[in-house]
Amino acid sequence: MAENSFFLSGDKVLLKPFSTSDINDDYVGWLNDPNVVRFSNQRFLKHDMESCLRYQASFEGTDNLFMIVRRLLDDRPIGTVTAYVARHHGTVDMGIMIGDRSVWGMGYGQDAWGTLMNWFLGREDIRKLTAGTLACNFGMIKLMERSGMSLETVRKAQEIVEGHPEDILYYAKFHGS
Ligand SMILES: CC(C)(COP(=O)(O)OP(=O)(O)OC[C@H]1O[C@@H](n2cnc3c(N)ncnc32)[C@H](O)[C@@H]1OP(=O)(O)O)[C@@H](O)C(=O)NCCC(=O)NCCS
Repeated sequence: MAENSFFLSGDKVLLKPFSTSDINDDYVGWLNDPNVVRFSNQRFLKHDMESCLRYQASFEGTDNLFMIVRRLLDDRPIGTVTAYVARHHGTVDMGIMIGDRSVWGMGYGQDAWGTLMNWFLGREDIRKLTAGTLACNFGMIKLMERSGMSLETVRKAQEIVEGHPEDILYYAKFHGS
């Protein structure tokens, strides 16, 4: 979605399409922070301005969304959300990164997640919303369960995290449920 005027507002955050002006040292720093990417495959990569521009460009001309999460309080960027839309199936797979660790545990992630999820599930063309996370990502599991998503399936011992095989949990919520 290219329109610059598009935005979604929650109680605590504003979501806007990610723009090249959002790529700065702080943003690149989130992606290179081992604590932020601890449970993501991004931890195997080193990010820089170029890799961020390439990632942003991968959304252009698609149905998918890449949005910056800003605090309503002071407009400070604190993270990003992604949504991969399969138009022919009426499904959306969402992801989130609250990159500014100083605001973790304050409800911003929950608000960003709920705001984007409810916007999609309010659309007639979307049947189902999905997301996945490692079983050791307790914050993400809590966030998905509290947003009304249900555990759909488990891929046992799917990835190695800090030397141990970990399950990946897949959650879902249906339109109208
Ligand atoms: C997971 C993440 C999105 C949570 O964002 P957040 O803004 O800290 O979440 P919230 O403050 O809205 O928290 C949601 C709930 O989970 C809890 N929570 C957050 N992190 C937690 C943790 N590590 N362990 C247990 N509970 C946790 C919060 O305390 C809150 O519950 P509460 O209100 O009962 O206290 C954020 O930590 C993050 O972006 N992590 C790095 C990237 C990532 O892992 N993304 C998901 C990949 S699948």
